[in-house]
Amino acid sequence: MDDDLFEDEHEDVPSQKPLKNLEVLSFLFAQWMRRPIMFGAIVVFSLLTTFIDITIPIAAGHLIDVLNKGEASESPWPAYAVFIGLAIALHASRQAMVRNEIPFSSANMADMTSEAFAKVQKFSLDWHANTFAGSVVRKITRGMWAYDTITATFWFSLLPSILVMFGLGIYMALNWVWVGVYGLSVIAFFMVANLVLAQYYIRPQNLRANAKDSELGGALADAMTGIATVKSFGSEAREHTRFYNLAWDWRAEAKKNWTRFVNTWLLQNACVVALQAGLVGFLILLWQKGNASAGDVVFAITAFMLMSGYMRRFGEEVQNVQRSLDEIQDIAAYNQTPEQIKDKPKAPKFKPVSGRIEFKNVDFGYEGQETLLYEGFNLSIEPGEKVALVGPTGSGKSTFVKLVQRLYDINNGHVEIDGQDVRDVTQASLRRHIALVPQDPVLFHRSIEENIAYGRPKADHKAIVEAAERARAHDFIMNLPKGYKTLVGERGVKLSGGERQRVAIARAILSNAPILIFDEATSSLDNETERQVQEAMAEVTQGKTAIIIAHRLSTIRDADRILVFDQGRIVEQGTHDELTGREDGLYARLAALANS
Ligand SMILES: Nc1ncnc2c1ncn2[C@@H]1O[C@H](COP(=O)(O)OP(=O)(O)OP(=O)(O)O)[C@@H](O)[C@H]1O
Ligand SMILES: [Mg+2]
Repeated sequence: MDDDLFEDEHEDVPSQKPLKNLEVLSFLFAQWMRRPIMFGAIVVFSLLTTFIDITIPIAAGHLIDVLNKGEASESPWPAYAVFIGLAIALHASRQAMVRNEIPFSSANMADMTSEAFAKVQKFSLDWHANTFAGSVVRKITRGMWAYDTITATFWFSLLPSILVMFGLGIYMALNWVWVGVYGLSVIAFFMVANLVLAQYYIRPQNLRANAKDSELGGALADAMTGIATVKSFGSEAREHTRFYNLAWDWRAEAKKNWTRFVNTWLLQNACVVALQAGLVGFLILLWQKGNASAGDVVFAITAFMLMSGYMRRFGEEVQNVQRSLDEIQDIAAYNQTPEQIKDKPKAPKFKPVSGRIEFKNVDFGYEGQETLLYEGFNLSIEPGEKVALVGPTGSGKSTFVKLVQRLYDINNGHVEIDGQDVRDVTQASLRRHIALVPQDPVLFHRSIEENIAYGRPKADHKAIVEAAERARAHDFIMNLPKGYKTLVGERGVKLSGGERQRVAIARAILSNAPILIFDEATSSLDNETERQVQEAMAEVTQGKTAIIIAHRLSTIRDADRILVFDQGRIVEQGTHDELTGREDGLYARLAALANS
């Protein structure tokens, strides 16, 4: 498939270099250390389990030796009891380890995922605008499950296999120096080779496959979000082909990935055979010379079987750990990414006074725009003033609102509200004092009641109904199947555009913020409803600062001041009457068009 074809679908957030293995490991370690006592217990039980595991072949060897000497010399039952006792201890210890891991890992997963959510939530609107929501979802869920795999693998498999392999190797070396040295060398080579391959052969392909996997998630969510558009153009087949191509893109990378896994097994198999041939061969030689008993040979074979089992496990587990590290690396990277719009350290909360808004010499341009949208922009809105913003589409009206809320940071100058620079106070406290009815209100798939109370979650039902009545939403809400308890569908799709707007207006009214902003808030309402809602807006904006953005001039006739925007500048300002009086003015032209 042609890569360029889907170039535009890639996330265009400044692509971050993947973190190093060590950085991901240290993130993982921090997760483990969330519950240090439980973590300690897992490590201890893991070591204990492994220790018992190693002693079993020794006990087996001992039992065989006792049997070999014949019944007369020594009773075999004590050796038998040790052998079986160890097996029971092994299972008890393993149970303790796993039972401890269940509450430990499930709690860490819940914490880690919630923290990732909180972190991503803090990223700027710009970051989100440039990122597929579906990819983020995929990365976080993938990382959550990777944590589970990696923790179990690391402590239940990887660590034991390292200890067993070295433990047995060392035990052998103590008995037969060269047998031990040989075994240890094969194992050391085997481990180093595996780690190197994991890092340089497996990892890059893992990352490529994961990137495709995230892309798949992004594409899936994007297509589902736009399903109404897809259906209205009857383009299901086209979307299917598009997704199919992406899925096969992923398939190509995943196939390579898995093939690399199997390729590395070849090396592992070679090492296992080398160990088998060497160990058993050495012991047979020693036995021929009379330097080893039959029990020693049995020990060597049991030890080899144990070691080869652990080697195979080690090989697979190194790959699993590497894969999981690569899967968790996105969450680790989120964790390291600084917030794009950040509260200053110890920033105080915003203290509302009277609702004065001032822009002083503001320069601002969106990332990627060639020229600044605002240059040396100055404006002062008095407390309690009702200001209307009008102007052609794309002239920067909604941007003005975003800057008041500090959804973007300006390049130069100051935006001040009640004398406080928006950068000096916490973002959340600032935004809580500004009620916004956005251009395209998005509701949550929760009840209407919760949606209205979003800005004041503790509001009682009476206050909610009152706000809805003022926003002229009460009647249609009462006609819904479950009234205020009706769920509105994802993003509010079960409501009409005008209904959604009125819910958003009710939400703003209820929030009781000193600054109210209506961005095309009534654009979807019929004339009669709009008039009613405007009356309500006039009531609720009493004594508050209000910014009203509208294309329909009827909406703004009564504003104290009308600002006419053009290409990020205020080209005219005054009351409706003053502005219509200017023959050649932009506003007068717009008004004339509206009347014609
Ligand atoms: N997130 C963004 N990234 C880059 N450019 C943007 C972004 N948001 C808006 N713009 C651009 O900034 C300009 C001003 O947009 P803005 O939304 O402020 O216009 P507006 O006056 O509200 O228009 P409308 O009346 O259509 O709502 C437009 O040219 C728009 O394309
Ligand atoms: Mg706009």
